[in-house]
Amino acid sequence: MMTYLFSLEIIYLIASVTYIVGLKMLGHPETARKGNLIAAFGMTLAILGTIFLFKGEVQPKVYYLIAGAILIGTLFGWGIAKKVDMTKMPELVSLFNGMGGASAALIGLIEFSHYTGDTISVFTIIAGMIIGSISFSGSMIAWAKLNGTMNKPVRLPSYNILNNVVLVGILGFGTYITLSGAESQLYLYLLFLAALLYGILFVIPIGGADMPVVISLLNSFTGLAAAFAGFLYGNMVMLTGGILVGSAGTILTFAMCDAMNRPLSSVIFGAFGEGSAGAGAAKKSTQGNLKKTTPSDAAILMNYANKVIIVPGYGLAVAQAQHIIHELELLLEEKGVEVKYAIHPVAGRMPGHMNVLLAETNVDYDKLIEMEDINSDFQNTDAVLVVGANDVVNPAAHNDPQSPIYGMPILDVENAKTIIINKRSMNPGYAGIENELFFNQKTSMLFGDAKDVLTKLVQELKTM
Ligand code: TAP
Repeated sequence: MMTYLFSLEIIYLIASVTYIVGLKMLGHPETARKGNLIAAFGMTLAILGTIFLFKGEVQPKVYYLIAGAILIGTLFGWGIAKKVDMTKMPELVSLFNGMGGASAALIGLIEFSHYTGDTISVFTIIAGMIIGSISFSGSMIAWAKLNGTMNKPVRLPSYNILNNVVLVGILGFGTYITLSGAESQLYLYLLFLAALLYGILFVIPIGGADMPVVISLLNSFTGLAAAFAGFLYGNMVMLTGGILVGSAGTILTFAMCDAMNRPLSSVIFGAFGEGSAGAGAAKKSTQGNLKKTTPSDAAILMNYANKVIIVPGYGLAVAQAQHIIHELELLLEEKGVEVKYAIHPVAGRMPGHMNVLLAETNVDYDKLIEMEDINSDFQNTDAVLVVGANDVVNPAAHNDPQSPIYGMPILDVENAKTIIINKRSMNPGYAGIENELFFNQKTSMLFGDAKDVLTKLVQELKTM
């Protein structure tokens, strides 16, 4: 009985359940932290179980190698995850994802010679290695792009045709190795290099707002590659984990595409902004009068409002102004003003960015209202305070078919009675385009760093 209780199968079953429960809990800010810990506990259990309950023969030096690898990986992962800013999270995800892809590719490289002649296993190895290698090199390019090392999309001549030729070549060669029963390790290395090359070619033309979508797509590739490895070893926990990562990544990829109104095909083949003037070049000169306001006037306006909606964006995160905005919200509520936050699905730089940021300050979750639920509220709102958000409130998404963000669902801030916009300058947001909302007659610009400006607003409100 005891042997059964402590068998690897039971441990894997428990670990698989923790992944599913953890993933479910990640769906809400209130439970996300605990969900992450539960899944991490399951993963630790699975790793320890694999090391200590494995029934085959293992040379002692293998244990030292495993311990060394775990130590290096833990120190490296812990160190950078501790230090990373929330705004740099997508590049960290990309780096970690690349490591997952590399692990899956290495499994393929090592195991190939052990399974020659077994077509199903060779297929599993080749498929996992190709997908893992693409995910690794693609993630490394995405990481370099997001941290600014590679700051421009690179479009080789006829890059779409070139990429497709390389992909077809990889699929054809992989099929040949699988079906012919070829035992050549050289073939495998060539396939590995071609897959690495494809990962690079796949990601280099992509840029702008499409990068987080690509990262999510590569994340789903890594999940798939891990699932192939789990299938090869008959390892249920690896299979479950891989399938969960693969499907969660795919769902997220499509959810982001929906939120930006960009079909996945145009993310992969289109290159951001192509077809219009291009992200950077798409600046349309917007004419009109710009009205400026001061913290004192903005405080008076909000003090006498019945209802205020706050629209947080990337700038709020950069300024680390989440605590002060929560203080502003509480102060307004003390004065009898109804306050809500309008959350756009791609506000910030990663999915759920604004929810995570505001959850950190204990903002009541019921006050974070999703775009579809709050858009009809703007017309009954006395004042909207936009803090460091730009593209997600840009009416060009409705009005300008030439705009790269045309068709993207936005927060309909322009329907409110008055609009206060806080940002530091007239610089554009992520999409690189001007925003006609700044020139709307109902809009006043409140220039300055979000944290400074909100601190002044709070001080003014306290004197009223
Ligand atoms: P953005 O359009 O990037 O605008 C952010 C604004 O914040 C900028 O205009 C900037 O203007 C201002 N800002 C920067 N630092 C500031 C500071 N310290 N204080 C005050 N303002 C500051 O952000 P958004 O409206 O949140 O839109 C997100 C963009 O990212 C969209 O284009 C979206 O498609 C893209 N994107 C997001 C995701 C996810 S999942 N979140 C995924 C893919 C793409 P100044 O420089 O003048 O201050």
